[in-house]
Amino acid sequence: MLTGKKVIVGVTGGIAAYKTPLLIRLLVKAGAEVRCVATDHALQFVTPLTLETLSMNKVYSDLFATDNDHTTEHISLKDWGDAMVVAPATANCIGKMAQGIADDALSTLLMAFRKPVFMAPAMNTQMWESPAFQRNLSLLKGDGCHIVEPEDGFLACGSEGKGRMAEPEAIMAAMERHFASCQRLSGRKVLVTAGPTYEKIDAVRFVGNFSTGKMGFAVAQALADEGAEVTLVAGPTHLTVNHPMIHRVDVVSAQEMFDASASAFPSCDAAILTAAVADFRPVDAPDIKIKKQNDNDGMTLHMEQTPDILATLGRSKGDRQRLVGFALETNNEVAHAQSKLQRKNLDFIVLNSLQDKGAGFGHDTNKVTFLFRDGRVEEGLLKSKALVARDIVDRLVSIL
Ligand code: CTP
Repeated sequence: MLTGKKVIVGVTGGIAAYKTPLLIRLLVKAGAEVRCVATDHALQFVTPLTLETLSMNKVYSDLFATDNDHTTEHISLKDWGDAMVVAPATANCIGKMAQGIADDALSTLLMAFRKPVFMAPAMNTQMWESPAFQRNLSLLKGDGCHIVEPEDGFLACGSEGKGRMAEPEAIMAAMERHFASCQRLSGRKVLVTAGPTYEKIDAVRFVGNFSTGKMGFAVAQALADEGAEVTLVAGPTHLTVNHPMIHRVDVVSAQEMFDASASAFPSCDAAILTAAVADFRPVDAPDIKIKKQNDNDGMTLHMEQTPDILATLGRSKGDRQRLVGFALETNNEVAHAQSKLQRKNLDFIVLNSLQDKGAGFGHDTNKVTFLFRDGRVEEGLLKSKALVARDIVDRLVSIL
């Protein structure tokens, strides 16, 4: 359930921080990617070296560290993470979060974070029972924070009672329960195409394009995070994928992408075709290298159209299947996209304009407009491709 999830582990200054390395270990073993943000006090109880070694990433603790890529590096984690878990969460940390105080790397990130937050409080029983703390705890619960209740038992201060941090296994179980309950596409199968295609000219050359596949891989990840079983048909790309719900099929040419997609689609509930498929391919591609003929002679390539995968799936689409296409345009964007939506029988189309800065090939960001069958048009903002992928998945969920 946590495979492929990006989890930010917050550590605050309590003796229970000695159990945090075990939580990190369990998360990594479950297939999650982990980054740690620790308060100064936390680092009195657990060393950065331990956190870094187990999480395999650097630890963030200093708002103003000179080795930060830029001064708000810790805030950029808000886009990276799928969830945050603060373990141990001291009364001070919970109080600050409830009251909106942001005075260090962790509290600043917590205030900016809009995805699930889990808190595993740890403190002495009297602190736990104090009216001030209970007030803050209710505020946090009201804000949607998930509290992994502490246990009764022997406490570091020598007394017995409620306040001992939940065991790492219990914290993991709470997170797993949460993610299992909010997977909106479990039981669904979705086909995704991604990346460019290469069309052979001869034994050593091809016609291709600048697509990197980042958008399609982000869509596949977002679908799998929602519990869908994904067939990812990928053109040539260096990107890697590591999710048990994603079955990757590598292809090179438009014809191979067509064959793989046409065979996967009939058993799918939906398809999202993000690939930049070559529209034309050389008619003949000899298995040897084409040599130059005479000095100064040019070369003419005879090209033919490749099969249109999206249009073909659109023609064979069943009543219960949903089909989503992409349109990359440079001019008259909305009109061109609307025509593709109709022509290819899509449920909605995701329009990228090369006029928008930060959108299109190679960028980590994208800015898209959604055009629906019923005429609705929704314009998005410039966002990371991971967030755009979630927006696409949200819209697919709403029409499935
Ligand atoms: N597409 C496809 N197979 C093709 C060409 C395009 O599946 N042979 C899909 C793309 O994956 C994308 C959509 O069709 O989802 C639109 O691609 P685009 O290249 O923008 O449009 P074309 O139909 O090729 O039209 P044009 O090149 O004239 O803009």
